[in-house]
Amino acid sequence: MKQAPKHPVRLERQGTIALIVIENPPVNALGVAVRRGIAAALNAAVAHDKTDAIVIAANGRTFPAGADIREFDMAAQEPSLGQLFDLIENAPKPVVAAIHGTALGGGLELAMAAHYRIASSDARMGLPEIHLGLLPGAGGTQRLPRLIGAELAFDMMMSGNQLSAGICAEIGLIDSVTSGDLRSEAVAYARTLTEVRPTALNRTHLMDGGDYMATVAARRAQVKADLGAGALAPLKIVDCVEAALLLPMDAGLQLERAAFEDCLASRESAGLRHAFFAERRAAKFPEAADAKPAKVERIAIVGGGTMGSGIAIAGLQSGFAVTLVEQGESGVNAALEQIGAFYERSIAKGRLSEAQGAAALTHLQLTNKLDTLGEADLIIEAIGEDFDLKASILAEIGAVAKPDAVIATNTSYLDLSALAAATGRPANTIGLHFFAPAQVNKLVEVGVHDAASAQAVMTGVGFAKAMGKTPVRARVHKGFGSGYIGNAILEAYRLAADIMLEHGATPAQIDGAMRSFGFPLGPYQIADMSGLDIAYARRQSKPRDPDVRYVEIADKMVEQGWLGQKTRRGYYIYAEGQRTGVPNGDVLKMISEHRAHKGITARKFSDRDIRDRILLAIVNAGARLLGEGVAARPSDIDTVMVHGFGYPRSRGGPMMDADATTPSIIASRLSVLAPEEPSLWAAAPVLTMLAQERQKFADLN
Ligand code: CAA
Repeated sequence: MKQAPKHPVRLERQGTIALIVIENPPVNALGVAVRRGIAAALNAAVAHDKTDAIVIAANGRTFPAGADIREFDMAAQEPSLGQLFDLIENAPKPVVAAIHGTALGGGLELAMAAHYRIASSDARMGLPEIHLGLLPGAGGTQRLPRLIGAELAFDMMMSGNQLSAGICAEIGLIDSVTSGDLRSEAVAYARTLTEVRPTALNRTHLMDGGDYMATVAARRAQVKADLGAGALAPLKIVDCVEAALLLPMDAGLQLERAAFEDCLASRESAGLRHAFFAERRAAKFPEAADAKPAKVERIAIVGGGTMGSGIAIAGLQSGFAVTLVEQGESGVNAALEQIGAFYERSIAKGRLSEAQGAAALTHLQLTNKLDTLGEADLIIEAIGEDFDLKASILAEIGAVAKPDAVIATNTSYLDLSALAAATGRPANTIGLHFFAPAQVNKLVEVGVHDAASAQAVMTGVGFAKAMGKTPVRARVHKGFGSGYIGNAILEAYRLAADIMLEHGATPAQIDGAMRSFGFPLGPYQIADMSGLDIAYARRQSKPRDPDVRYVEIADKMVEQGWLGQKTRRGYYIYAEGQRTGVPNGDVLKMISEHRAHKGITARKFSDRDIRDRILLAIVNAGARLLGEGVAARPSDIDTVMVHGFGYPRSRGGPMMDADATTPSIIASRLSVLAPEEPSLWAAAPVLTMLAQERQKFADLN
């Protein structure tokens, strides 16, 4: 963990104005040293008889972006943010917050405790605590409704959205916006206040409870309907705003404090905070020590199917010039149709203006000529998963790409080293495995192989970050399962589920059990959505491992032409145009015949059995990937599972869940299952090691 600078707050003077400057890179989080620094500077500024007013500002990229989230798992240290903000609000001289960048969470609460707020015109403000399973716990729930009214306060706190300085000025959250030099404008503004003794409006102003009670009741009902009665942070926010409307400030603050503590202690908040840091940790690659990302301005994508077009859209949306190469006229037209449809939908939904849509499309070049690739800094091959075809296209790309271009293959499971060799420049070749829909899903597995240069890897990482994606480092897996982290785990997940099908569970029961755990879809719904032929082709493309049990049910379905939603018949039957189906009786019959053929007697699985077996399979597969160096850290696996497969974010991810159960209990549960299918259940060496050493996966992060 990075140490905060020793003196992260300075007190300066500009005539009679005291300037408190926070400098705690990277985001000026309000850790204990900052809180103490501000308190000391404020006391000194107030005590100075030449001080007429005080400005609080920050150096670097932003006004504080919140409390220091890393401190939430440590013992509390004084002053708390609440104590500090009381001090600011009760200061006998006017205090002005000078806001730039993103004033988020505790940062915005600091600004609200000040008597006046001035912001740069490009500043943004928000209370994103809800994304961490928390609520604004330093007076935000009490001051915000008093400043902007209950409805708007609810909207800000429930969505966690950031608002522009312009909008904040309109709704009364800030007093002044400047496009000039913020620091000098703030000092000039403070000078205009020196005649005015600040009244602590926020504290004394009480609302008329009458009309607002209906608002509170409606919000409470809405949260319960949308999220259920267990939605801790949203319901506590409603309680806090209700308190702001009905109670004196001090009582409201007390209630808020207790509500914040409850949220902080919740499993949900621990999971969401873990996910936040896991994503950021995943983006740290060891290659960063040896190379920086090369500049990427033009990207090229070879293959304009669903994946290629999705990557093209993601590239255009992030400001890259994009060349998309497809075969023949019809391929080009189909890609154009897909990309055009995205922009039409986005414009229709008001996400983009017509002008923005048109402007993005001017950066798209669609062609059927591979020789146009010579201008691209990064070329992504995104054709179907056929090794020979990919290898031959990659060889063609290698022949025309400019010498320092990085070549990436979007393969999800083929041998990356062999594909890299096919380009003729393996050092410049990496894997960039996007997840569908690529224009939406934030996950990109960056495939690393022995011959890849640090420069190529870091260029891939830089590109993924520039697209707002979360890159995760992965080496190609060659043993059990195939592909990088996600696919290898998915294979274990499916095998655990398929074994239960053979032994008596139904697809609908397994899907239901996994949905009730928090996955948006169960494994068989996903299979139907993806198309059973895709996984079938993958299974056929590689030799079977004799040590891994093979369940033939899905193969038999493909042989019947039951490919899922695309044929309206898979594990479920779909009415025309429907994405939710009813269980396919023919599949149930097929499973029972298959079971009889194998001489298996059906037994019952409870939903809990189903979840346990699947989660144990996922964790064990994850542990195996760690041992083999496919995944660098347990938290990378969590990030892949949350973003790639909808593992409930509020649980943090499977490896965090395993830590909650403890590796030693996981290992002993696995030992019970191991005789059934050792390839799946025999505890991976990393897990055994953690169990023996009484350690946790988190210790390997
Ligand atoms: N506490 C501690 N560290 C933080 C942090 C915080 N509040 N916010 C960001 N960081 C760290 C990140 O972990 C990252 O660290 P590394 O460089 O070591 O990886 C670094 O700051 C930069 O962050 P990003 O990579 O996310 O940078 P970005 O430019 O993409 O985004 C940001 C910047 C918009 C501020 C984003 O970091 C963000 O959304 N941060 C969280 C903001 C937040 O949730 N604030 C509320 C905190 S809870 C609170 O304040 C409770 C309360 O009411 C008292």
